[in-house]
Amino acid sequence: MTSFSSIPSAPVDPILGLSEAFKNDPASTKINLGVGIYQDAEGRVPILESVQRATTMWTAKEETKAYLPIDGLASYNAHTQTLLFGTDNPRIKEGAITTVQTVGGSGALRVGMQFLRDFFPASHIYISSPSWGNHQVIASSVGIPVEQYPYHSAETNGLDKDGMLETLSNAPAKSIILLHSCCHNPTGVDLDRASWQQVVEICKERALIPFIDCAYQGFAHSIEDDVYPIRLFADSGITFLVANSYAKSFSMYRERCGALSVVAGSSTEAQAITSQLKRIIRTMYSSPPSFGANVVSLILSTPELRTLWAQELETMRLRILEMRKLFANTLAETVADRDFSFIKHQQGMFSFSGLSETVVTELREKHHIYALKSGRICIAALNTQNIHYVCESIATVLKN
Ligand code: LMR
Repeated sequence: MTSFSSIPSAPVDPILGLSEAFKNDPASTKINLGVGIYQDAEGRVPILESVQRATTMWTAKEETKAYLPIDGLASYNAHTQTLLFGTDNPRIKEGAITTVQTVGGSGALRVGMQFLRDFFPASHIYISSPSWGNHQVIASSVGIPVEQYPYHSAETNGLDKDGMLETLSNAPAKSIILLHSCCHNPTGVDLDRASWQQVVEICKERALIPFIDCAYQGFAHSIEDDVYPIRLFADSGITFLVANSYAKSFSMYRERCGALSVVAGSSTEAQAITSQLKRIIRTMYSSPPSFGANVVSLILSTPELRTLWAQELETMRLRILEMRKLFANTLAETVADRDFSFIKHQQGMFSFSGLSETVVTELREKHHIYALKSGRICIAALNTQNIHYVCESIATVLKN
């Protein structure tokens, strides 16, 4: 017996834990459709050319390894603001938005939720049902009680808009509402512009606090279109938060590039909020790392690299779209008695396939195909070499 003997094991993470199990699987036919990582047609997680070129530039330019400020690289934060809110956004001009660099999108959520917990201790957070698993866990870990709002309808494989709007309309003032700006994770079901308008009105009327998670900018329609809800909220005069990640859009997963933006009522409010975010960051990880932020900042500030990056992002988006269509069409051929056509209408990296946990388990155990328990499949890991094996395996399991 030691002082630590009574410490139990924590549950395995449902997404990253699955990647560990995948790594340990010796089968040569194994396919990881669990984690949300883009792979190219050859199954590689690419290092974008824009990122390679910016890395070379940065390596030649770097002069010091001194700490970054607590709130990170100023140019990175400024570029993040224009990417999310638009170049001429009046709220940027008046200094009402504060942005801090964070350790990935998860870091942004964690810092943002700690901030909300500190200043709105009575607030609960409303998270879509279903949502990315880490939303709930991060909220709970800072002590924010979690509620759910209806989101995905298993009947229509689309949005339960009435359920969502009704729950939001009844949420107490100052409730935190977690929203996905695009490519909803895990369902791929997004709101249309008219529905976003309704959500904005409810948030305004009920004095709710929206917290928008933006991890897939550029993967649904375009870099500009995918942040439409963020700009709509900004135009409405509401105060709210945005957590964003560059992991997917720059294919820089392990560099942990994220940011938290808080849209305040004025520059005076924004300054006070910046000081609070810095207090939180200082006690959590002190200051963020430099490399990824400098690479992103160089790309966004060098016109040639920015154009190249936008093209590379569009290439990723289009390949996923092609795989989405091929997946739905191949399933239609291999599984005759079930309609999977709804997959074509989902957005982003994922397909919320409707496959049950039992089916997912059998796919893993018998066919070495890894998907999430919820039935979420990462379309971005499919290619013309593995898609037939995946669809035939699904057909085999469904027949049993
Ligand atoms: C996912 O949803 O698979 C990604 O966002 C990776 C993660 O950290 O869970």
